[in-house]
Amino acid sequence: MSNGNLNLTLKVWRQNGPKDPGRLETYALNEVSTDSSFLEMMDMLNNQLIEEGKEPVAFDHDCREGICGSCSMFINGEAHGPDRGVTTCQLHMRKFKDGDTIHIEPWRAKAFPVIKDLVVDRSAFDRIMNAGGFVSVNTSGNTLDANAIPINKEDADMAFDAATCIGCGACVATCKNASAMLFVSAKISQLSLLPQGQVESDARVLSMVHQMDEEGFGNCTNTGACEVECPKGISLDNIARMNREYASALVKKG
Ligand code: SF4
Ligand code: FES
Repeated sequence: MSNGNLNLTLKVWRQNGPKDPGRLETYALNEVSTDSSFLEMMDMLNNQLIEEGKEPVAFDHDCREGICGSCSMFINGEAHGPDRGVTTCQLHMRKFKDGDTIHIEPWRAKAFPVIKDLVVDRSAFDRIMNAGGFVSVNTSGNTLDANAIPINKEDADMAFDAATCIGCGACVATCKNASAMLFVSAKISQLSLLPQGQVESDARVLSMVHQMDEEGFGNCTNTGACEVECPKGISLDNIARMNREYASALVKKG
């Protein structure tokens, strides 16, 4: 090591498409600054591969500041790597040591098929949102100002906490059952905790849970790994709330 830089061995999942069985490939990457982010390190690797005439590693990224949820990487067996409360783009190389070997893989779940290398298809989440993750609002011109409806502080805080879910899919990738219940319950809670969302709450929970099952996500067995690895600290309380809402909606439906 020199000047606080790291010499690393990277074992990166390479897969040409959904049907390719894929394999881990090994790369040496030297002089990585401990001040760089994990994605900047990946950029360095790709520059090196391009200079060597090799194909760069495909990976998803957009905002690079923990907002968009696209930087899905399984790093040394943990979704978003060894830090807590951060996405891969917020992970810094100072979390690693000189001489480390780092394993970098895509999310693993039947409902998230690999498109290429580290990029997975998370459109299953979009289809779950399309099934009911919205409120129907009359935009005729007579719409009430949202702030005209009083909401108690505790409900507003819980709804806001649920709304911080960025749809990254780390909960699914972490769960041994590939369950999407932390994600789905956050998206349901952010609406059903508020009066505007309660009008459609029964239809919403039935429809979104049905779509979640259709997509092939597994069941929740209360392991709690999702909550630990979630970069936004989404609480398991949301799953309990969703289960109560689902049971109540089923009884009412008859
Ligand atoms: S619940 Fe957490 S881990 Fe799951 S999609 Fe939302 S932010 Fe990502
Ligand atoms: S690139 Fe947007 S959350 Fe990481």
